[in-house]
Amino acid sequence: MCGIVGYTGKSPCGGFLYEGLKRLEYRGYDSAGAAFCTTEGIFCQKKRGKVQNVRSFCLRRRETTGIAHTRWATHGKPNDLNAHPHVFGHFALVHNGIVENAEALRSQLLTPCRSETDSEVLLHTIAACYEGDLLQAVRNALTQCSGSWAIAVISDYHPEEIVCARRQSPLVVGKGKNGIFVASDVYALHGLCEQIFLPPEDSLVRLRRPAAEREEAERIEGIAGDTGVTGGAGIAGVEAFDMQLSPLPVLPQAMPPMPPIQSIGHRTHMEAEIEEIPRAVSDTARSLAQANLPDLPKVQAVFATGCGTAFHACVAFRYRMQRYGKPIIAEQAGELRSGCVRFPKNSLLVAVTQSGETADTLAAIRLAKSQNVQTLVITNVRHSSAAREADFALFTEAGTETAVAATKSFNCQLMALYFLAAKCVGRPVPDFTDLPSLCEAAVEADVTQAVKKLYKKRGMFCLGQNADYAIAREGALKIKEICYLFSEGYPAAELKHGSLSLIESGFPVLAIVTQKSALKKMKNTLREAKSRGATTLVLSQYREALAEADVPVLLPMAEEDLMPILAVIPLQKIAVELCLKKKLSPDYPRNLAKSVTVE
Ligand code: G6P
Repeated sequence: MCGIVGYTGKSPCGGFLYEGLKRLEYRGYDSAGAAFCTTEGIFCQKKRGKVQNVRSFCLRRRETTGIAHTRWATHGKPNDLNAHPHVFGHFALVHNGIVENAEALRSQLLTPCRSETDSEVLLHTIAACYEGDLLQAVRNALTQCSGSWAIAVISDYHPEEIVCARRQSPLVVGKGKNGIFVASDVYALHGLCEQIFLPPEDSLVRLRRPAAEREEAERIEGIAGDTGVTGGAGIAGVEAFDMQLSPLPVLPQAMPPMPPIQSIGHRTHMEAEIEEIPRAVSDTARSLAQANLPDLPKVQAVFATGCGTAFHACVAFRYRMQRYGKPIIAEQAGELRSGCVRFPKNSLLVAVTQSGETADTLAAIRLAKSQNVQTLVITNVRHSSAAREADFALFTEAGTETAVAATKSFNCQLMALYFLAAKCVGRPVPDFTDLPSLCEAAVEADVTQAVKKLYKKRGMFCLGQNADYAIAREGALKIKEICYLFSEGYPAAELKHGSLSLIESGFPVLAIVTQKSALKKMKNTLREAKSRGATTLVLSQYREALAEADVPVLLPMAEEDLMPILAVIPLQKIAVELCLKKKLSPDYPRNLAKSVTVE
C-alpha cells in the first residue's frame, strides 16, 4: 500500500510533494517522509505519524527533484527508521509493495541495512548494481527481486531524473507545465498535470527534466525527447515498450484534496459521507440505468468476490441470487485467489471494489481471466485498475470516499448488486425511485441509546438472517474498524451452536430484522440471548421485533428488498458516534488504510 509522489522539473517541488502526500494519506498514514536531491546531495526527512509531521520540511526545500511517501507498514514497525524514503549513499527510494525475497537479498549485502524494511534491501541492491546509469541499476536490481512494487528512485549523481518501476502495484506518470510527476494514483496529480500515462505492468520508466539551455523549446514540444518520459524497458523478459504511446485524452474524475474538517460542516469525514448517502444512491441509480452488460442469463455459475465491506455486499448478493435460483459462490478475494479454484465453464466473476485497486481483488480478476472466465467489476473509480482489467463494469457514484471505513460506497454496491441479480435472471430491475428519501430517513435514525449501551463494553454480537446477516457482518466490521470493540457478525440461527456460551449479564446482542420471514426465528434468538442476561438492541421497521429490544432502533418502512440498503445506515452511525464518544478518530483508525494494494 502506501502513497508515492515524485517530481522533477523546473520548480521547487516541496509544496507539490506535500500536497500530493496529503491527498494520498488515505493509502496509509503511519509514517511519512520526503527526499530531495541536487548534485550536492540528498536531503531527507521522515517521521512516524501523519503527513503533517513533514510539512514544514517539505515547504522549506527549494530543490526541483524529489520523492515522497506515506506509509502503511508491511515490513517493520511504523517508526522513523522504517519510514520512507530510504537513503543509502547517493541513492534514495520510495516503495509500495513487498519484495518477497528480501531476506535472501539482505544476506548478500555488503553494508547492513538500518531499517527492518524490504524496501531498504532493494535500495542497497540498486546501489550495488549502479555503474553510471540509474535506470540500468534499477533494472538489474529488480531482476533479482520477486514480489510486487511501485518504486521511485533518485540519485544525486543524476539530480535531473527519477527512475520508476512497477509490478502489480499502481503507478501513474503525469506531465505538467513545469515538470513531470509520478504518483501511486492520479488523485495526487489532480490540478498539477495535463496529461497522464499509465506505465504498463512490469515496466521501468525514466523521468528526466529538460536541460536548462533547451528548456523553453522543449516545454512547448511537450513530452517528446528529453523533456518527458524518456525510456521504458521491460524487465524479467518482458518486451521493451514506447512510453510516448498513449497519453490519456481525458483526465479521470479527480478527487479534491481532503478539505479540512472545519470546512465540511461535520466533525469527521465519515459522518459527512454517511450524510451523503441519499445523494450517492440517487446518482448510482442514474449510472446503473446506463449500464452496458453482457447477456447474463446465459451465465451458468456466478462467483462474487471482494474484500472487507465489498465482500459483505457480495454476501447480500449471494442471498438474492439464491432466492432467484441462480447458482452462486461468494468468497473473500484473498481466499478465492489462493484456493486453486477451477471456474466451471460459462462462469462469471463479479468483483466488487470501491477503490478498484485492492490487490487481492485484482488477483481474483486476473485468475478468472487466466481461465477465460468473464469478469464484471462493480467499482466506484472509473479509471481504476479493476475497471480497466475487467471485461465489464458497473459504476457506483458514491463520490470520493476518504474516511477509511467504507459507508456510502457500501449502500451503492448493494444497489448495483441487486440490479445485477435481476439482470442475471432476466427479471425487472429494482425500482430505486424512493431510495434517496428513505435513506434520508435512515440517516435521521436515533442511535443515542444504542451508543450509550455499547460504550465501555468489551465485545458484542451483531445478528441477522440471510441479507440481514450480510448487514450484521458489515455493522460488526464498522464497529471493529473504528471503535476497537470486538464485534462479530453472526447468522442468528447459528448462535445456539456454540457461541451462546459467550453471553453473560449485560453482553450486547444487536439484531437486524428487516425481513418478515425472519421475524419468528429472530424473536426466538433474542429471547434465548436475553434469558442468559444479554442486553438486546434491535434494528427493525417491525414493532413486533422492536418489542424484544432493550434498545429499539426504528428503521424507515420500505419494500423489504431495499431494506438492507437502509438498515446499514444506523449501524454506520452507531459506529461513528461510539468512536467519537470513545475519543477516537473515525477517519484514521489505527493499523488500517483505505486501499490495500498489497497482498
Ligand atoms: C480495506 C479497507 C476496507 C475496504 C477494503 C476493500 O481493507 O480498510 O474499508 O472495505 O479495503 O476495499 P475496496 O476498495 O476493494 O472496496
